[in-house]
Amino acid sequence: MKILFIGDVFGSPGRDMVQEYLPKLKDKYKPNAIIINGENAASGKGITEKIYKQFMGLGANVITMGNHTWDKKDIFEFIDDAKNLIRPANFPVGTPGKGLTFINMNGTELAIMNLQGRTFLPAIDDPFRKVDELIKEAKKRTNIIFLDFHAEATSEKQAMGWYVDGRVSAVVGTHTHTQTADNRILPSGTAYITDVGMTGPYDGILGVERDAVIKKFLTSLPVRFEPDKEGRTQLNGVIVTINEQNGRATKIDRIMINEDNPYLD
Ligand SMILES: [Fe+2]
Ligand SMILES: [Fe+2]
Repeated sequence: MKILFIGDVFGSPGRDMVQEYLPKLKDKYKPNAIIINGENAASGKGITEKIYKQFMGLGANVITMGNHTWDKKDIFEFIDDAKNLIRPANFPVGTPGKGLTFINMNGTELAIMNLQGRTFLPAIDDPFRKVDELIKEAKKRTNIIFLDFHAEATSEKQAMGWYVDGRVSAVVGTHTHTQTADNRILPSGTAYITDVGMTGPYDGILGVERDAVIKKFLTSLPVRFEPDKEGRTQLNGVIVTINEQNGRATKIDRIMINEDNPYLD
């Protein structure tokens, strides 16, 4: 079984890239499931119901989120009805939404989980204790488990990968917006990458219009961050191959599409 995961889609440049390349990636890889991190899909901050539906219409099965989950007020109106949208499961008790969902692919179930790190990010519940709970829950139904670990620190992400090695089929990192070249299969069968990278502006700074970011570094004054809409665009993702008999991953390949790494059929 193959799972295509697309990293943090950022604003309209990111949505346009998904629209343009998702059909091509579907043709090329024939994934059984498609997961998109949509935490920045609406102007770099959060997601709206319209965008959620657009992604589902393009063939996504599940949308994952992160620290920008609540940035668009719209989310509070639709999250409880959005069966296939998950937010970090270790948000405090009482938070709307959920962090674990299941999809059925011709009789085979896939569990998808979303967690958020705590290093250089707001204080929330422990993602490590939480992942134990989620795995227990997921294993009642399936051995095929996919985790989007939304975190800043490489060490925290590596620790998560090793902590769940052999218990989760894949751990993909999101949030830093820059793809890392450390994709590998850990010894007990977990596919791992520290960060998948982002989808959207290629000439911004992590997707943001760069003059504003540079001004912030130069002056520390408050500035408004908007997606860069002038420059070139990129799409970053991974394709994970999993043995559906035992839930172990056999392969994780990086997808990087930009002007320096053009898409080849
Ligand atoms: Fe992000
Ligand atoms: Fe993030």
